[in-house]
Amino acid sequence: MPTLAELAHDHTELNSDAIEHLTALVSEWGMLADFCFADMLLYVPVSEGKWLITAQVRAATGQTLYHSDYVDTWASESEKILLDQCLASGQTAQGEIFVQAIGGPANMLVVPVSFEGSTVAVLSREWVTDNARKSGQLESTYAEIFAKFVEMVAEGLFPFDGRIADASVAPRVGDGAIVLDAATRVRYASPNAVSALHRAGVSTNAIGQTLAELGVAENAARNAFERKEPVVEEIEQTSEVTLLTRSIPMLRRTLTGVEVTGGVLLLRDVSELRRRDRLLLTKDATIREIHHRVKNNLQTISSLLRLQARRLESPEAKDAIAESVRRIRTIALVHETLSREPGEDIAFIEIVRPLMRLVEEGLQSADRPVTFEVKGDGGRLPATVATPLSVVILELLQNAVDHGFPEGSAGGSVVVSLSHDDDALTIRVVNNGVGLSPDFDFSKATGLGLSIVRTLVTTELAGTIEMRVAAAEDFAQLSMNTPGSGEGPVVELRVPLQY
Ligand SMILES: Nc1ncnc2c1ncn2[C@@H]1O[C@H](COP(=O)(O)OP(=O)(O)O)[C@@H](O)[C@H]1O
Ligand SMILES: [Mg+2]
Repeated sequence: MPTLAELAHDHTELNSDAIEHLTALVSEWGMLADFCFADMLLYVPVSEGKWLITAQVRAATGQTLYHSDYVDTWASESEKILLDQCLASGQTAQGEIFVQAIGGPANMLVVPVSFEGSTVAVLSREWVTDNARKSGQLESTYAEIFAKFVEMVAEGLFPFDGRIADASVAPRVGDGAIVLDAATRVRYASPNAVSALHRAGVSTNAIGQTLAELGVAENAARNAFERKEPVVEEIEQTSEVTLLTRSIPMLRRTLTGVEVTGGVLLLRDVSELRRRDRLLLTKDATIREIHHRVKNNLQTISSLLRLQARRLESPEAKDAIAESVRRIRTIALVHETLSREPGEDIAFIEIVRPLMRLVEEGLQSADRPVTFEVKGDGGRLPATVATPLSVVILELLQNAVDHGFPEGSAGGSVVVSLSHDDDALTIRVVNNGVGLSPDFDFSKATGLGLSIVRTLVTTELAGTIEMRVAAAEDFAQLSMNTPGSGEGPVVELRVPLQY
């Protein structure tokens, strides 16, 4: 559908300033439609006495007369009579038209749209007199306001100079409307406005009081009146209540210039929206805080276990607890890393490095030194994958130290190599220690460590595990920096990264 500017450009001689004036009008006229509870259309005169409809708006407060869109269509014969009359006289007029769509008569109010002293278009309000809408104080007040804005349109005072309101964020009439006199005294407040004022802490009857006395939006309205143009302002009324306001001055031409006769304050309670915004903003920080606390709790648990281990006599029990402590600390490490990073995924290498240090410090014996090394990069992993994998790597490192370099053997190297593509992550843990015992069968291994590895990798992560005797090229590839007996196994894991 062509825009108003395109239609005006293609069919009329209007200059770009005039077209801009019309564009500004239709960006703000939703408010006029709301105040008059009716459809509004914008007509421009084109050659051969024809009139083209260039814009149409429906009231958010009332029923529409027109279910189809009339933009880029021509005025009917009965409409033309009124439009011609309006153009010739430069005066507002009202009459009856025949509307094809409803197969009957309707009312049409025509308003000359004045720009730099001449009528550049005609604005209309079109409606059928309906008895359905009971006429109360709201209706009569809005009718009065509408009449004032109509005058402003005819005098070239509406739309406001050089300011295209962002209608998408500003509150609308239906959100709550307060009618002000020139001293910002409240003359009328719509029921929704009364509710919003109530939430903002105004419990007394607002009628007759100034905004300053009420302590609501006085600066916004003052600014609008002084600048003679609409002002949109978000007001944090209390820590709980946020009001979005739009103050629109009502203007009149006098002999000496333009004066403010009063205004309209539209307001919407956006407290709930803002509260949600704030929650969204801090969600990330909250998640990090939670990881931090989980890490602290895990550290507490591992300290308690260490205290308990100290009271034990049996070396086997002491070892079992020491292993548990390392598992817990490994998980704590993941949470610690997550607590430092925004988002729910982490660079895996950031976990593997400290994990190696943990093992290096905890498991080393001075008589058989083992060096630890990481090669490659695991990319970024979601926490749900990184956590079990960390525990898996811990078990494999622990086995490499425990079984690769047992008491009485020489030291050597342990290398963890990481590589990844879009589909999978491959982890290899190799040591050049004493190697697997001849009767070892991975598929029958029932130790706790390998059980944990198997469960996490195959069940939880849907990956595969291979454990084989390392070949010479494995060691060559990894260029281990400390020679060992060179018999150790390679444990290779593949974990899919697409789910
Ligand atoms: N890197 C390794 N080098 C030699 N043997 C290993 C290695 N990793 C595992 N094993 C063998 O697999 C067995 C099972 O390991 P695991 O399930 O971790 O139990 P645990 O370490 O408590 O013995 C070990 O007892 C050992 O015989
Ligand atoms: Mg083990």
